[in-house]
Amino acid sequence: MSAPQHHQFSEKEINPLESLDQWEEAVLERYPVAGEPAKTKEEFRNYEEPGRDTVREFYRLNHTYQTHAFVKEKQAEYLKFDKKQMPVWEAFQFLNQLVDDSDPDTDLDQFQHLLQTSEAIRADGHPDWMVLVGLMHDMGKVLCLFGEPQWAVVGDTFPVGCAYSNKVVYPEYFANNPDYTDEKFNTPLGVYEKGCGLRNVDMSWGHDEYVYQMLKGHIPEEGLYMLRYHSFYAWHREGEYEYLLDDHDRKMLPWVKLFNPYDLYSKNPVPPNWAELKPYYEALVAKYLPDTIRF
Ligand SMILES: [Fe+2]
Ligand SMILES: [Fe+2]
Repeated sequence: MSAPQHHQFSEKEINPLESLDQWEEAVLERYPVAGEPAKTKEEFRNYEEPGRDTVREFYRLNHTYQTHAFVKEKQAEYLKFDKKQMPVWEAFQFLNQLVDDSDPDTDLDQFQHLLQTSEAIRADGHPDWMVLVGLMHDMGKVLCLFGEPQWAVVGDTFPVGCAYSNKVVYPEYFANNPDYTDEKFNTPLGVYEKGCGLRNVDMSWGHDEYVYQMLKGHIPEEGLYMLRYHSFYAWHREGEYEYLLDDHDRKMLPWVKLFNPYDLYSKNPVPPNWAELKPYYEALVAKYLPDTIRF
């Protein structure tokens, strides 16, 4: 099979989902609020066609093309941060160009999701850097605006370069990935050493790693873990990949778990009152972040 970097993707392969939010709704269906019955699909949205097939197609593409080589290529491309530079508040406007015309449930844009997440964290009295994590955690979705396919921006993340856990959603599609039959990559440890720690593990490429690298050095380690692994459900929800972890990962895991419900369960059709909240967030951003952030 030819290397993915030389693969020309069709429009359908680039945007299999009707919107990025469709992935998040599928995650919410998988992990409903504890003690509450899952919302039925009918309650979520009224598409003519259920989202199931597009989500399935999304994961088929994700699992097929997120090879070890693909991840290395995207790291080299994006972690130079030479694409753009802008003040944080402009960056939110940039992110908001990702509009979701198709969603009948909510008119909330990306910024509203970020603000609802951060407000829920603040309401529970967590440290201010965690509020900032809530505000920034999906900033990496700007990858879509740089032309990346949806399956290289969102979706559950997983380690590449070693065997896939069958607790990653739709594991059957990993059989399509060339790494699946590559002896370098298809043993439990693959290219890694036992207990090497997640920091030495390459994750499938997406908005988590990108925003982590963006904020590295600016917020405490616990917050960086929340950013970097918030979509790594096979770890923080399913307890997989134990053999890659070190003590530091085990120490950080409760923080990643602490963050997840704020991301998943804070969506509300009523937008927060930005005019009222603005002074608090301007001070918060000024406290931790430089004047401009680089993409
Ligand atoms: Fe996210
Ligand atoms: Fe999110």
